[in-house]
Amino acid sequence: MGSRPFTIAILAAGMGTRTRRSEPKVLLPLCGRPMLEWVLDAAARLEPDRIVVVLHHGKGAVEAALGERFREFDCLVVDQGEPKGTGHAVSRALDACEERSGGPIEGDLLVLYGDSPLITREALLDLRAALEESLDGNGSTPEASLLTCEPEDPAGLGRILRDDEGWFLGIREEKDCNEEELRIPEVNTGFCCFRIETLKRYLPLLSTKNEQGEYYLTDLFGLMVRDDRIVMPIVTEDPTEVMGVNRLDQLSQARWILQERIHWEHLDRGVLIEDPATTVIEHGVEIGEGTKILPFTVIRKGVRIGRNCEVGPFSHLRVGAVLEEGAEIGNFVEMKKSTLGPGAKAKHLTYLGDATIGGKTNVGAGTITANYDGRAKHRTEIGDGAFIGSGTIIVAPAKVGNGALTGAGALVTRNSEIPEGEVWVGIPARPHRKSGSEAGEGGKA
Ligand code: UD1
Ligand code: CA
Repeated sequence: MGSRPFTIAILAAGMGTRTRRSEPKVLLPLCGRPMLEWVLDAAARLEPDRIVVVLHHGKGAVEAALGERFREFDCLVVDQGEPKGTGHAVSRALDACEERSGGPIEGDLLVLYGDSPLITREALLDLRAALEESLDGNGSTPEASLLTCEPEDPAGLGRILRDDEGWFLGIREEKDCNEEELRIPEVNTGFCCFRIETLKRYLPLLSTKNEQGEYYLTDLFGLMVRDDRIVMPIVTEDPTEVMGVNRLDQLSQARWILQERIHWEHLDRGVLIEDPATTVIEHGVEIGEGTKILPFTVIRKGVRIGRNCEVGPFSHLRVGAVLEEGAEIGNFVEMKKSTLGPGAKAKHLTYLGDATIGGKTNVGAGTITANYDGRAKHRTEIGDGAFIGSGTIIVAPAKVGNGALTGAGALVTRNSEIPEGEVWVGIPARPHRKSGSEAGEGGKA
């Protein structure tokens, strides 16, 4: 949709003082990715002609975290200089676009805020489509649109001013509101869209005569309405998708909303999540159909879980953890950069770091791969059909062959290679000579 050229500006130059954190607000984590990356993705999904990102505070850190994504979408990154308000940020964005394209740019500009990560594609499409709808039958279309909502708690947000008949008049920032205006339930979400030619005409009219001494982008709407230009406010039904994050309590609310969306996607694909309320699954996790995720489980980004696996309760899957089809992990099992082969099990009290575990292998209760020697990380390789006895410690690098077995409490020392089918026991673990002994008292998974 949309016949005119289309630019998206993402405003993210602010300091974010209300979060009381040292990192730039837009880098605060949400389900495994920085807040700004959610906004960038929402922007990219609309396939605009260009994306311009306005940065200043923490610019270096933001570029370090998201530089690759900026390049992927060919974003124009602009330094706003000392931020003087959202109106100033948009004007800097437009200037930078025109500089890059060597002349005036045309079409529409959609404005997104770097601190509003929950927006959906549908809501943005509506906002943009509003500029193409003829309202009065004479073919005149709105020159700007904005998204409004009535949240439970409007604190901190700009209020929508309307006349007695409900016609939109403009926006008043909370700090500039009088008592009566503060009681207005309808607020500005920040999402808005402009015809660029109108925007360019009105931006120079903004002033800093307000409580915060800033150029408010939000003042533009009132100025346009005063000149009888059509501004289209769209009321969204769902306040959760437009919520902004200014404080850490809002960050955790936003996280939960995204978390529910992620859960829903997995549930929809046949993953049974017994208790979503106690299950953390970050963005970018693959889980196969038929897999069960039991309560109190944390699955970080990039983890891959095959079909018909079982994870939890109380499991922790970190970066680079892979469970192949039918693998199972249980209580207090942590995995990092490790693969459990098809049908392998590690059901109790285990750390698998930098380890490869073959198919059908049983990792007994209390097994630890000691992957870190204080300087570097080393790998553990365990073959197929092996049996690791309860309480085994494997000091990496080490190898355990196919079908090999370690006795309960074995300490497999650094550089050990247990050959296929052998039984090793003791501290330090050594081949077990006697046959038919107690060597294999592993915890059955
Ligand atoms: C803004 C709106 C308010 C709306 C609310 C919704 C204005 C003036 N107010 O208020 O009506 O209800 O969002 O969440 O727009 N930024 C810059 N450069 C600047 C200033 C801000 O890039 O000079 C960026 C910030 O980094 C942030 C976004 O713009 O990502 C919004 O700025 P913020 O200061 O959070 O505005 P609010 O007070 O939340
Ligand atoms: Ca904000």
